[in-house]
Amino acid sequence: MHPVRKLWCRVYQTAFRIALPVLPYREPKPLKTFGEAADLLVRKNITRVLIVTDRNITKLGLTRKLEQDLTERGVAYTIFDEVVPNPTITNVEAARERYLADGCGAIIAFGGGSAMDCAKVTGARIVRPKKPVTKMRSILRILRPLPLLIAVPTTAGTGSETTLAAVITDDKTHYKYPINDFCLIPHYAVLDYRTTLGLPAHITATTGMDALVHATEAYIGRSTTRETRERAIEAVSLIRSYLLRAYRDGSDAEARAQMLHAAYCAGIAFTKSYVGYVHAVAHSLGGQYGIAHGLANAVLLPYFLDEYGEACEKRLAELARRSGVAAADAADAEAAHAFIAWVRDMNEQMGIPTTLPGIRNEDIPAMASHADAEGNPLYPVPRLMDAHELERMYHVVQDPADANRAAEGTYETAGGAEAAPTAPGIVARMKRVVRAAGRRAKRAARRARTTIQQNR
Ligand SMILES: NC(=O)c1ccc[n+]([C@@H]2O[C@H](COP(=O)([O-])OP(=O)(O)OC[C@H]3O[C@@H](n4cnc5c(N)ncnc54)[C@H](O)[C@@H]3O)[C@@H](O)[C@H]2O)c1
Ligand SMILES: [Zn+2]
Repeated sequence: MHPVRKLWCRVYQTAFRIALPVLPYREPKPLKTFGEAADLLVRKNITRVLIVTDRNITKLGLTRKLEQDLTERGVAYTIFDEVVPNPTITNVEAARERYLADGCGAIIAFGGGSAMDCAKVTGARIVRPKKPVTKMRSILRILRPLPLLIAVPTTAGTGSETTLAAVITDDKTHYKYPINDFCLIPHYAVLDYRTTLGLPAHITATTGMDALVHATEAYIGRSTTRETRERAIEAVSLIRSYLLRAYRDGSDAEARAQMLHAAYCAGIAFTKSYVGYVHAVAHSLGGQYGIAHGLANAVLLPYFLDEYGEACEKRLAELARRSGVAAADAADAEAAHAFIAWVRDMNEQMGIPTTLPGIRNEDIPAMASHADAEGNPLYPVPRLMDAHELERMYHVVQDPADANRAAEGTYETAGGAEAAPTAPGIVARMKRVVRAAGRRAKRAARRARTTIQQNR
């Protein structure tokens, strides 16, 4: 990264770190049961609530107890269960229409990160009817209290029930980006491990690893506080003790309950101390190809930790020692290596691959550019990387079969000589994207001409 841009990123991050104590972070108030949630709505004189969820969850009957409790207390409800993984702007707009058409007065987000994030941004659109979702990207673009929002997580991973973030995909452009605002922190949360008992093993694995990435990226970043470090350590310790147990036996109540708590702790850690490039790259892959968030994160984490190297060694070693991943007296290099080896071993034991399928060379420059725009200047990562440097990480996790297309002449990088970044900032990035698009268009035209000639 250009030194001037580096300086700008670090100054920006320092400003947020200094402001941290006065920023209006809060945690959702805990509710023990769905009955308590229904009582709350009655107390607040809310006569109809929108339940935002996905079809899997309604099919599994997970919302049934909540529906029963609402009905018993005379609270009407509308179910919107069209949320897709990597939720889209279309999802948000459809949910908003249902909220308004049925005259709802509150939202219950019921599901994994996808349902919770869709519910958050639906709330944002209710209070910001004139601001499209595309204008909410990045930080502090909503700045208005949402309608009452109760979160019920059914995966133990994202921690969205306690974070200020919501990640949405623009279904027209495949651009997936976070929206960060204090008003997106849910007002209440019901953490009931029983909602996670039926989570299939592979989703248990990837969502659990997502929580591990939250804790790790928060801890090795440069904007930690004593509280976020303690929460991250607690999350990693719990994941170490319980994730494999939950993966191997989904009905293990203790493991499920502890994983739900781990995801919450990791959520607290990263909502104040941020995530890093693992997330920025994972989001771009989720937007472009629909790759599940936890899967992308799990695959990427060890490669990024390797890549950061000495820049994160001291902090990673501390996390490893304090969470029991490395021996208490292990030297920094040894402890940091032990942590990375442990992540790889966890992935392997849970059948998580070492590469991701479907990454096309020609998509990499634009995805790297999106990751750059998400990560910089906000994320206080151990080592700053720009789009050009981030591109390499996509190649690292690329399936060899897809990478081989490079040898057939389709390999392309915006980091090539003609597109080398000469100046910091968005203009340079946009130029690269436009040039890459131009090259793609030329190739497509060439291919079309060849096809026409062959058909003659
Ligand atoms: N807002 C945040 O702070 C934050 C943090 C991390 C990730 N995210 C976002 O969250 C999304 C991912 O969320 P996720 O990993 O929880 O997955 P998800 O919500 O997409 O759910 C994954 C799948 O699991 C199913 N499922 C969920 N709960 C289930 C249950 N109890 N039993 C059976 N099936 C169940 C869903 O139907 C879905 O098919 C991504 O879009 C990611 O970017 C947000
Ligand atoms: Zn995540």
